Amino acid sequence: MWAEKLGKQLGHPTRSVAGWLVSRFLTARNRILEENAVKLSGIQPGDTVLELGHGPGLGLQSAAKLLTEPTGHLIGVDYSEYMHQMANERLKELIASGKVTLHHCDVAAMPLADSTVDKVFHCNCYYFWPDLRKGAAEIRRVMKPGGLMVTTLRLSNVAAFAAKRVMPGENWRPEAYMAALRDSGFSDVNMEDKQSNHITFQAIYATALK
Ligand SMILES: C[S@@+](CC[C@H](N)C(=O)[O-])C[C@H]1O[C@@H](n2cnc3c(N)ncnc32)[C@H](O)[C@@H]1O
Repeated sequence: MWAEKLGKQLGHPTRSVAGWLVSRFLTARNRILEENAVKLSGIQPGDTVLELGHGPGLGLQSAAKLLTEPTGHLIGVDYSEYMHQMANERLKELIASGKVTLHHCDVAAMPLADSTVDKVFHCNCYYFWPDLRKGAAEIRRVMKPGGLMVTTLRLSNVAAFAAKRVMPGENWRPEAYMAALRDSGFSDVNMEDKQSNHITFQAIYATALK
């Protein structure tokens, strides 16, 4: 019962005591994953960059610092109204200046034009998608050919949560997501072990086919 409740809040935080606790947990625990996803994406100053399921907005803050050219633009999507509002608050100056745009929407249906995004990153997000192929196809649709997508995760933590049924089903498995990416027009799909601040994590890379 508790696992199901925690899974619901992790997958879609709501404005509630449980949602607030989850947002505190995400802010305290996931900074390293978010910052490394940004670093591994190889963001260039003039890129258009997209974060999926940004949660409280730490990764967005870190990516925005790298987009120093006038053309550099950052987009975030999250279907939790609570997280959308929290990130809006965190990034309000950058949103007001036009550098950052946040959309309150599902990853599987983003209000973005085809082939417009250079880099996509996300952390702790795909395990909650009901249909990995739908999500992967939508990411591919908005990416420029040759663009890079990176997701970071701590596989040992995810597997432990999955064993307790916090995430139901098998979508948490990297193999399932990597298969969906390959089927949806990505090449060079692979996963690497990484280390940062004495923490071991995994990074999944995929390149949008030309
Ligand atoms: C576990 S939280 C991770 C937040 C942040 N990336 C981090 O690592 O701290 C998952 C986030 O992804 C969002 N999310 C999950 N599925 C989504 C979907 N299909 N479309 C948009 N956002 C989604 C949730 O609302 C939540 O903010």
